[in-house]
Amino acid sequence: MSSLKGKKILLGVCGSIAAYKSAILIRLLVKEGATIKVIMTREAGKFISPLSLSTLSKNPVLSELTTDNGSLWNNHVELGLWADLFLVAPTSANTISKFASGTCDNLLSAAYLSARCPVFISPAMDEDMWAHASTKRNILLLKQNGNAILNVSHGELASGLVGEGRMMEPAEIISKLMNHFNASQTLKGKKVLITAGPTYEAIDPVRFIGNHSSGKMGYAIAEACIKNGAEVTLISGPVNMPAPSKLKKFVSIKTADELFSATTKAFAKSDITIMAAAVADYKPQRIAINKIKKIEGELNIELVKTKDILAELGKRKKKNQMLIGFALETENEVSNAQEKLKAKKLDFIILNSLQDQGAGFGTDTNKVTILDNGGKKIELPLKMKTEIAHDIINFIISKLHA
Ligand code: CTP
Repeated sequence: MSSLKGKKILLGVCGSIAAYKSAILIRLLVKEGATIKVIMTREAGKFISPLSLSTLSKNPVLSELTTDNGSLWNNHVELGLWADLFLVAPTSANTISKFASGTCDNLLSAAYLSARCPVFISPAMDEDMWAHASTKRNILLLKQNGNAILNVSHGELASGLVGEGRMMEPAEIISKLMNHFNASQTLKGKKVLITAGPTYEAIDPVRFIGNHSSGKMGYAIAEACIKNGAEVTLISGPVNMPAPSKLKKFVSIKTADELFSATTKAFAKSDITIMAAAVADYKPQRIAINKIKKIEGELNIELVKTKDILAELGKRKKKNQMLIGFALETENEVSNAQEKLKAKKLDFIILNSLQDQGAGFGTDTNKVTILDNGGKKIELPLKMKTEIAHDIINFIISKLHA
């Protein structure tokens, strides 16, 4: 059975000389068993006829927000909800800019804003447009917003120039979509427990001891696990992000003690636990009931250790459970992380180094090294946290099948 059988693909086509490739794309998609609906921009119609695309896709091709002289509305919300995947190929620089800014002035951009499914964008443009800082910025924004950007290739362009900017070949796009759908159920039936974000330890009713964790890495892992079919419980410290949709359970905590209780409670039933939270190692011995007033001289706050949650989980871990930790290091990174891997009885540990530019707190990118209990060491380049989340999941899957 082909992996696109029964999949509903919404195909967006923009005004680009590469629009002729969308006909080939539709033929290949239909051949693989997918159902296709096509939205064309007005400009796309100048490059390829709607009749060709509607004949190949066996569905009417839509272009305007309304039809029949404005008396009928083309329901972009329905289209956005109908699709299992929204592929825009070719995507022009203009449409990339609209998607990035949230401009909604045609059916394609309205459907983009309404789509809840994964969006794959296959750019096509001239080399200079592709290389322009504005396009680069828009592409980065689209990546940050969770869209998959397909690579452009090097070759002869419509302008006669030779360079980067050619749309990916249809056969390659089909294989990317197949990989996506194949990968999307690899954690089906698995219960995954993820902790994310910082903990806050109160000093008095006003102050606390916290850290700079944004929760972005843990949330990206939660999203990726959901996409791969897992049942995800997310336990989160205070962060500035909405919880991912389609979680099985969301637990909000503030302190390391609350995190300890919530995590140990959920742990027994989880197949895979990923401890991405930045847990305070110390908390004030006493929380002052009233706001601490300024005093003459120094103020000392007595701190006591919090429980090491991951080490406790390591002790409780059964053979069929997988336990994954993070290590944040600023020196002797690999050896420190290896020690934590062993001491906390982890299957693998993800090492973050604050020494690396673009890595660490608050950023959308990170640079990590994965170290496993069999001595394997995988150094990943600087990537978006969303991409790292997928790499981590691929590593989990390879461990499950090892
Ligand atoms: N961790 C935990 N409970 C704690 C402290 C840390 O579960 N009280 C977990 C973190 O979530 C992370 C891993 O342990 O997955 C390593 O955290 P890290 O802060 O790098 O190391 P620590 O073990 O706290 O050691 P140190 O701060 O001395 O480096």
